[in-house]
Amino acid sequence: MEQKKLRSTEWFGRSGKDGFIYRAWMKKQGIADHEFDGRPIIGICNTWSELTPCNSHFRELAEHVKRGVYEAGGFPVEFPVLSLGETLMKPTAMLFRNLASMDVEEAIRANPIDGVVLLCGCDKTTPSLVMGACSVDLPTIVVSGGPMLTGRHKGRSISTSDIWRFSEANRTGEMDDMEMSLAEAGMCRSDGHCAVMGTASTMACMVEALGISLPGSAAIPAPDAARKIMAQRSGYQIVQMVKENRKLSDILTREAFENSIMVNAAIGGSTNFVIHLLAIAGRIGVELTLDDMDKLSANIPLLVNLQPSGQYFMEDLYYAGGLPAVMKELLPRLHIGCLTANGKTIAENYDKVVCYDTNIVSPLNAPFNPLSGVVVLKGNLCANGAVIKPSAASANLLQHTGKAMVFEDIDDYKQRIDDPELEVDEHSILVLKNVGPKGYPGMPEVGNMGLPAKLLAKGVTDMIRISDGRMSGTGFGTVVLHVSPEAADGGVFSVVEDGDMIVLDVPGRSLRLEVSDEVISQRILNKRIELPKADRGYVQLYQQHVQGAHLGADLDFLRGSSGSKVTRDSH
Ligand code: FES
Ligand code: MG
Repeated sequence: MEQKKLRSTEWFGRSGKDGFIYRAWMKKQGIADHEFDGRPIIGICNTWSELTPCNSHFRELAEHVKRGVYEAGGFPVEFPVLSLGETLMKPTAMLFRNLASMDVEEAIRANPIDGVVLLCGCDKTTPSLVMGACSVDLPTIVVSGGPMLTGRHKGRSISTSDIWRFSEANRTGEMDDMEMSLAEAGMCRSDGHCAVMGTASTMACMVEALGISLPGSAAIPAPDAARKIMAQRSGYQIVQMVKENRKLSDILTREAFENSIMVNAAIGGSTNFVIHLLAIAGRIGVELTLDDMDKLSANIPLLVNLQPSGQYFMEDLYYAGGLPAVMKELLPRLHIGCLTANGKTIAENYDKVVCYDTNIVSPLNAPFNPLSGVVVLKGNLCANGAVIKPSAASANLLQHTGKAMVFEDIDDYKQRIDDPELEVDEHSILVLKNVGPKGYPGMPEVGNMGLPAKLLAKGVTDMIRISDGRMSGTGFGTVVLHVSPEAADGGVFSVVEDGDMIVLDVPGRSLRLEVSDEVISQRILNKRIELPKADRGYVQLYQQHVQGAHLGADLDFLRGSSGSKVTRDSH
């Protein structure tokens, strides 16, 4: 790769007034003259925040990255960006993913940065940082924060996936408030992100499979010393990447995206993967569609036995050999020549890996579950597509015809779901509208809405649920998500009515509303869409520009890249 003049020399390599200003204010941080000698400046993009508990250890982690940067002869500068905490932000952290990506993009481009380390952990912190960095396209490496230790409650392992079980048990009275409070304390026992194959772990695996983090980094638990060493090694590596001018676009090829889709199928990754990967592809300029997701994952079985599709936890995956054990099994299917952050190919990185526990990572010829990945559904109910994760669904519901029970929005759902008079039985299909990108706004994780109390009392544990929203990566059930066009766009999904028959056929990849085209057109003509519209600020911008879920729900004007060219001086 060509040697390139470092962009930071446009600041610190200058003489006269401008160079004086650029260096003098940096020197007040105790930086010596010789550090401005043209060594690579590495921006450490930190999502530490006390409001993002999953990333609470990132100030310490950044110090380990810095060790590696210094060791390789670089000059680290840590800077904060908008940090999206999944659990606290209302109405949903997803509403702000694109905003955070703008922060990241502009912060990188405007500053004297030659290479970037992205410190990512909680769900949205990974895609927002990667999206922003792609729109600049400098040498970039991701350091994920690692999963938290497995939770413990009453002598058994628990995780985020139990939240839904606990809350149903609490609603039926099987678990009292006192026990709920004990479970709360046992769930999150250490630093790190959610301990199952939820969205955060899925994102950590995604960046490793794409080749933009070091091999082996995805599954190391946050409190493990190996996580700190991985941070240091990544700091060392980014300096080499700058020297060799190995940019994101050199790594993020169409083949790299295909690899990550296959890996996501094998690990039983979150449905949120679909939306984030499409958005990232849009930024780096790789052609990728929802149909690619379906086609590429169709023949990949589920190899990893982790919740919510299986039994175990991220900690167990690490002890079994981590993502490398999965990559090794998948090598015959992957594009093994893809370049990765360390300058080596996928084949070179993973060929010699050993799996230590085939209960956790099964071999390709004896998979844990032949069903995997994310299936893309098409049909009149979702002209642009919808998704379902069959490995987290009930096998007996994958082909099913049922009567719709429709909730016009989340408030309607909350008001009526536990009504004993609600006309539903276990064969009904629950439909929740207006939880899409524009409609909610922000596309929250409410798609795996709880079942009606009267059916829970009867012992029903799953029903088909359909919405234009998302589901937590830790969630499970026969849940159809990301229906596009969303209800707020006024299409077929917006006019489903109580009692309409819906046909779900996952093997046939279809989702149909059994209502004639004439009746549907008439209903659409009569439909009045009343969106809660923001009258100012970012949310207004978001509602005006957000694209459909099938395109990754990015803002239309953010697709693509503006490059890393240094702009005019500030003085
Ligand atoms: Fe942060 Fe699950 S809430 S990763
Ligand atoms: Mg989530």
